Amino acid sequence: MPDRKRVFSGIQPTGNIHLGNYIGALQNWVKLQEHYDAIYCVVDLHAITVPYDPAELAASRLATAKALLAIGVDPGNSLLYYQSQVPQHAELAWLLGVDTPLGALNRMTQFKEKSEKAGQRLGLYAYPVLMAADILVHKAHLVPVGDDQTQHLELTRDIAVRFNGKFGDTFPVPEQITPEVGARVMSLQDPTAKMSKSDPDESSRILVFDEPDTIVKKFRRAVTDSGSEVAYDVTGKPGISNLLVILSLFTDRSIDDLVEEYNAVQYGSFKQLVADAVVEGLTPIRTSYKNLDDVEVARLMTKGALDARMRAEAEMVGVRRLVGLGN
Ligand code: TYM
Repeated sequence: MPDRKRVFSGIQPTGNIHLGNYIGALQNWVKLQEHYDAIYCVVDLHAITVPYDPAELAASRLATAKALLAIGVDPGNSLLYYQSQVPQHAELAWLLGVDTPLGALNRMTQFKEKSEKAGQRLGLYAYPVLMAADILVHKAHLVPVGDDQTQHLELTRDIAVRFNGKFGDTFPVPEQITPEVGARVMSLQDPTAKMSKSDPDESSRILVFDEPDTIVKKFRRAVTDSGSEVAYDVTGKPGISNLLVILSLFTDRSIDDLVEEYNAVQYGSFKQLVADAVVEGLTPIRTSYKNLDDVEVARLMTKGALDARMRAEAEMVGVRRLVGLGN
């Protein structure tokens, strides 16, 4: 249906999708595909902006595609593909990048953080422009992401507005969609920092494919706060508040409701309760992952790329003409 609004989002193929990804973004991916023209992408070109191992990348790319399918991304109801198989992403990134002020890129906090570890590399610097191209190449209206992508989304909007101003109305200015609760899931070991795939401490995050006993162990070790009351107070009780957010998402109950019920429960028992809910919620996902056939998934991804290439090319014909590079 061409008049439905388009949704685009991407995830890096790290192969270890965690609760932050799941709660902050992927649950929305699954919901939105029911109502919108949804396009989802395993952004492998983004993943190579930091040092990596090619064999590992190949494996984690497939693992990520399978994880998305297991979580509920439905290729019958959305478009799913690997970014690198649709070269129009990289082409549009160049066309947008030629005019992106360095000042804007210098402000990107993720660039600062990542380049401290990986060194100052062009790929990391240009990363947000490629992200803008991902979204704009499909003329997406809505972008479901976690809180940590807000700055990148703002830059995307600036890039769209600049292009439209220069060449005429071309790109919708995309809106970010974040969940009301869970837009920033915090580390279990340091609840003032976000849960992150790059944290060297593995007990800081729950992976969607962690075994149940690992999940229980990680929650048991989770840092809690002073006092003994289960209450929602992000500043005063960041650890318990984070656990409440997770529990709320896995039980479909409001935080107020949970606080009322568990207020007097001891921290230890509360952590066990959260662990049980998460284990229960993730079990069907783990089971569907195990039932997926690698060859079939690879075929699905190739088909997705073919469709995505056709759609992206149709948009790029217009863009090339506008910038003076048409046929
Ligand atoms: P990535 O791969 O780091 O993460 C995938 C999604 O998970 C969200 N997320 C979180 N949400 C809540 N709490 C957390 N602790 C948490 N950690 C991660 C991220 O916000 C993201 O939505 N740059 C993007 C990938 C990308 C993209 C795009 C996204 C490339 N092009 C175009 C949208 C549109 C990234 O690195 O996400």
